[in-house]
Amino acid sequence: MRKMINIALPKGRLGEKVYNIFESLGYGCKEILENNRKLIFEDEKNGVRYFWVKPSDVAIYVERGAADVGVVGKDILLEYNPDIYELLDLNIGKCRVCVAAKNGFRDNREKTLKVATKFSNIAKKYYNSIGREIEIIKLNGSIELAPILNMSDVIVDIVETGTTLKENDLSVVTEIVDISARFISNKSSYKFKNEEISLMQEKIRSVIK
Ligand code: PRP
Repeated sequence: MRKMINIALPKGRLGEKVYNIFESLGYGCKEILENNRKLIFEDEKNGVRYFWVKPSDVAIYVERGAADVGVVGKDILLEYNPDIYELLDLNIGKCRVCVAAKNGFRDNREKTLKVATKFSNIAKKYYNSIGREIEIIKLNGSIELAPILNMSDVIVDIVETGTTLKENDLSVVTEIVDISARFISNKSSYKFKNEEISLMQEKIRSVIK
């Protein structure tokens, strides 16, 4: 008997794009795009059960096996280093993790650099690699406010179009790493539902641009 695949999708624009790809590959689930407050959607005929989760939580659901597979930004994988298999680069949701600061910023290396970010580990690793002493100010959103209010010297954050920086008189200082969406799997699911997950992986691979 075919086993159901449990799929964690990141809530938001990327998740909807991913769902449309999955639907076109035969993994549709009609009621998922209906505007309601449901969190779990199942389509027995297509063998799928979807969950909408916070983008930064996808890897947790997959690592713990609550979801067999999921789609998550590489930024989250780099930040949390979850124990999962990274199966495919979907080549969508492309952006960069960057250091940014107020226009005209110059680093004074005699002082500890104050870095506001939600990516503490990525930031620490980067500054460690260049031997720069920093203090992390951990935030959960609207990171761009920190240098504007002089709470931090720089930020380490996602830049996609660059509009947020531009509209706030900030600019990129350094690009740390390129990011895109990844198709990931729970390790034991990959063994026990190998037929189903491999088929899904191959179907997705065939439409990656
Ligand atoms: C992300 C990121 C930037 C913005 C970059 O924020 O933190 O603020 O997108 O996009 P842009 O370069 O196209 O302007 P998100 O929307 O995830 O919200 P957040 O403030 O909660 O991080």
